This record gives sequence, C-alpha cells and structure tokens, in this order.
Amino acid sequence: MNTTASAADLAPEYIRRIAPYVAGKPIDELARELGLDASTIVKLASNENPRGASPVVVAALAAAASELTRYPDSNGFALKDAIARRYAVDPREIVLGNGSNDILELVSLAFLKPGDDAVYAQHAFVVYPLATQARGARGIEVPARDFGHDLRAMRAAITAQTRIVFVANPNNPTGSWLPPAAIEAFLASVPADVVVVLDEAYNEYLDPADDANATRWIATYPNLVVSRTFSKAYGLAALRVGYGVMNAALADIVNRVRPPFNVNAFAQVAAIAALADTGYVVASRAQNRDGMRTLEAGFDALGLRHLPSHGNFIMVDVGDGMTVFQNLLRAGVIVRPVANYGLPAWLRVTVGLAHENARLLAALPAALGR
Ligand SMILES: Cc1ncc(COP(=O)(O)O)c(C=O)c1O
Repeated sequence: MNTTASAADLAPEYIRRIAPYVAGKPIDELARELGLDASTIVKLASNENPRGASPVVVAALAAAASELTRYPDSNGFALKDAIARRYAVDPREIVLGNGSNDILELVSLAFLKPGDDAVYAQHAFVVYPLATQARGARGIEVPARDFGHDLRAMRAAITAQTRIVFVANPNNPTGSWLPPAAIEAFLASVPADVVVVLDEAYNEYLDPADDANATRWIATYPNLVVSRTFSKAYGLAALRVGYGVMNAALADIVNRVRPPFNVNAFAQVAAIAALADTGYVVASRAQNRDGMRTLEAGFDALGLRHLPSHGNFIMVDVGDGMTVFQNLLRAGVIVRPVANYGLPAWLRVTVGLAHENARLLAALPAALGR
C-alpha cells in the first residue's frame, strides 16, 4: 500500500495547477480585518448592481418562502417559459445555470477533454482559462487589440483540436465591446463544429441601440451559445441564476452534464419577477451611465488614463494597482486589482451609487500617494 501519496496529490496534474478564482473582497471580511464598521465600507469590486433588489423581486421571494421542503423544478419550466417569450426562442433552446458561470462550466464540461483546445482573448474573463484547465484541455490565449478581442486573430488561432471559442461582449475586466456586425462576421467564419460561447453577462447595460439581440442568431448558427445572467443589471447576484440560449441539440447535450436542481427555487422565482420588471433594468442602466460619467470625469481630473467601458465597471491606470488597491482598502473602499489579468498597473472599479463613487474619488489622491 502506498502510504506516502495523499489523495490530494493524486488529483490530475492539470487540476493541481489551477490557480483558484479570486473573488472581490467581501465587506464583512474587510470590516473584520480593519476593525471597521461594515456600514462605512464601500464595495466597488464585483460588478454588482448597487441599487438594491427590485421590490417586485423581494415580494415574490417572500411569497415563495412558505415552500421550502420541495425541490425546485429541475427543468425550470416557468423561468424558461418567461425567457423564451422574452427572446422569441423555444424553451428547449434554453439551459439554466447557477449563475452564467455555471453555463460556462457546463459547456466546457460537455465539449472539452484532454487534448482539446479552447480559444479566448488575452485579458478576457478569467473563468474561460479556468474552465478550460479544469477539463485538462489547452487554452489558446490570443493577444488583445486595444484591450479588446481581436476576432480576426481569434479565428486564425482555431486549430483542428479547438472545440470552444469564448467571446465576452462586453468583456470583463476591460469593458471592451464589439459591434453586432463584427460578431456576426466572426460567427460566419468559425467552423460549424466549434462551439462559440458569446458571454453577454453585461448585455443589459448596453445602450439598446448597440444590442445585437444575439439570441436570434442561434437559428443561423447551431454552434452558438449566448450566455446571460440575472446577477448584473437585474440585481440578483446573491441568488446565482443565469442561462444559455442555444440550438436545441446543443442544449440537450449541455443539459446531460447539468447537475439536478442546479438553480434553486428562490432563484427561479426571483428571476421570473425580475424579467418582468423592465423598469428596474432601465433605471439600472441610467444609474450606471450617470455613475460612469462621474467616474470618468473624476479620473480625468486626476490625470488618470481609463478605458471606454460598455459594462458596469471601468478600468483605470493607477501605475501600481496592488499598492493603490491596498491603500484604498485602508480607506474603506474595495476595488479590484487586475494583475491576474496581466494588467498590474490597473484597477477595475465597479460603478456605484453617487455617494459610493464620490467616496472612491475622494480617497484616490491619497491612495495614489499624492
Ligand atoms: C464576463 C462575465 N461572464 C460571466 C460572469 C459570471 O457571472 P454570474 O455567474 O454571476 O452570472 C461574470 C461575472 O462577473 C462576468 O464578468
């Protein structure tokens, strides 16, 4: 019997090499570390909706609280029905996820194995390399152009072993965005046996005039997965609910690896209510646009370079991201360093409420050592 190897050592090498996902620092954690009152801390670190949940959603959740003993509907009939009506797709073309992160993982689980490749852009959402590595597949990172995706280079990077291409539109953390014509030309150029995951987690923050309505493309491109979430503009990050829209044959495959009951009953109820509350999303978009302008003007006043963003966050060049991040923590402001994205000079700041944005801008000069 081998008494020296531990069970942990026997995990596949590609799993042991994974650098775990680092989430935005929770408010309570910083409060404990610094002995601060949690209510004084401002968190602009996880691209959450700062407005608080819609009252319509809160009421729906309260009504659902009387039914805790039953499992949720594993097939999410009512939520799929609501999404299908909204986007004029068939419920069989929808896969529900525990957040859209789940969709990214499930598609990777269904299509990647050791020896396969997945293509994604430099500075793209970190879950693409993580999900790829977790399947023992090889990630092909394509150099960014102007901090965004270079779709031509991504097309050229596809190999005979490529099973998935991930495209974030808008991208986190850079905020870059590609217009509908560029995405559609890319879809037309990708071989039909390569799955394209078009990650639209921030879709609802786009100016409606910029929205490609990408779900309509699944009829033309049976290899397309459009992933969306209720975590951002719908304000339901705590509940973990997202979805993928794709050709029914693709959805059937992805559903085979989906754990039973992966979207809990509260999440389903809340998502249905949130989808119907269009006013909340419109107000969130307006609040985000105003906050974005405030942050851009504040960074300009400090002479800080920033990137144009189509999400609910903005990247700002502070010279030494980790030092300024630490200094801001001491001032009770949590933002996100992005050195793990190969961007050590930058910070990603989520657009907050007016008083939260003001706190950040007021704290920045000292945090920059000025
Ligand atoms: C680009 C992108 N995709 C997907 C997600 C996953 O979000 P969720 O699992 O909350 O839907 C995020 C979260 O930050 C994101 O930035």
